[in-house]
Amino acid sequence: MEQRNIMSYETVSFDDAKSELIIIDQTRLPYETKMLHLTTQKEIWNAIYRLEVRGAPAIGVAAGFGIYLAAKAIEADTYDAFYAEFKEAKDYLDSSRPTAVNLSWALNRMEKVVVSNKDKSVQEIKQLLLKEAIEIKEEDTWVCKTIGEYGLSLVEPGIGILTHCNAGQLATSKYGTATAPIYLGQEKGYNFKVFADETRPLLQGARLTAYELHSSGVDVTLICDNMASLVMKNGWVQAVFVGCDRVAANGDSANKIGTSGVAILAKNYGIPMYICAPTSTIDMACETGEGIHIEERPGEEITEMWYKERMAPAGVKTFNPAFDVTDHEFITAIITEYGIAKPPFNESFREIFKRKEEAQKK
Ligand code: MRU
Repeated sequence: MEQRNIMSYETVSFDDAKSELIIIDQTRLPYETKMLHLTTQKEIWNAIYRLEVRGAPAIGVAAGFGIYLAAKAIEADTYDAFYAEFKEAKDYLDSSRPTAVNLSWALNRMEKVVVSNKDKSVQEIKQLLLKEAIEIKEEDTWVCKTIGEYGLSLVEPGIGILTHCNAGQLATSKYGTATAPIYLGQEKGYNFKVFADETRPLLQGARLTAYELHSSGVDVTLICDNMASLVMKNGWVQAVFVGCDRVAANGDSANKIGTSGVAILAKNYGIPMYICAPTSTIDMACETGEGIHIEERPGEEITEMWYKERMAPAGVKTFNPAFDVTDHEFITAIITEYGIAKPPFNESFREIFKRKEEAQKK
């Protein structure tokens, strides 16, 4: 049987007739492309927690359809009874992972549909929820493409680009955020040379970024995380593009563990450090990176996972934060779908959100 290219699969899709949220099980990539058909809230919670669906925008899209599925199953016929059950389901899904703000952003957006349509029947509210979930997904493609166009405007053809973790198509509806300039550049024959950090401990860079770029015909070289400084020193990298999970109002940006080290290295070698951030990832209610909750995950991810046999002594202490915060002083620019934010980020973000508000009025 002919092997389908991974880029032809949808990261997250939805079948309303079967009441199924469909995702690629990203824990099994690249060796197996297995689709998961999720129907219960527990299954969806687990899929987010276990990183079967992961990456901030994709988590948001999955949460949108996930909460719609919960709403669809509610049998209440009064608004108050419906809303009480909806709220419970929303809080449950929201507890699956703490750092990526897109999870609560999507769930809050869905809740707003419920609250602002109190006068409608429960059945009508359910239909509006489905429409909103579809919109969240469709918008994501436009957001990523637009981030890609802005990102591309910052670089020259033929350069070396380093990326960390996976902020690719597998983390979004299409294009990715950090990979969007790479894919759009490839369409124009830019011939970028990309370095993908493997991204310990869950290897999203090796298993996902290297996989999707390689499958797309991009010139990608996989490196271990501790090789980034060498490739930078060798002059092989002219720009760093990474994604993010939550950006504070001052520009401090949480992304996969190791990103802040990459940013410090980039500054040392005079390489621009670009964070690709949909506005849904910017949390203006969070003043600085100090306010970002960093997820800590089981130590087994460091000691056992991916190894045939455990590779660390049994019982050894572990510390396994999933994200770190890159201080805004190490960030050259934050690329959003409404423009490129430059320091001071607080002011730049205000402009960007103003632009977004005006665009949404049209
Ligand atoms: O733990 P993960 O795999 O969900 O972490 C993903 C990242 O850190 C991504 O860089 C981020 O979510 C942006 S995805 C466009």
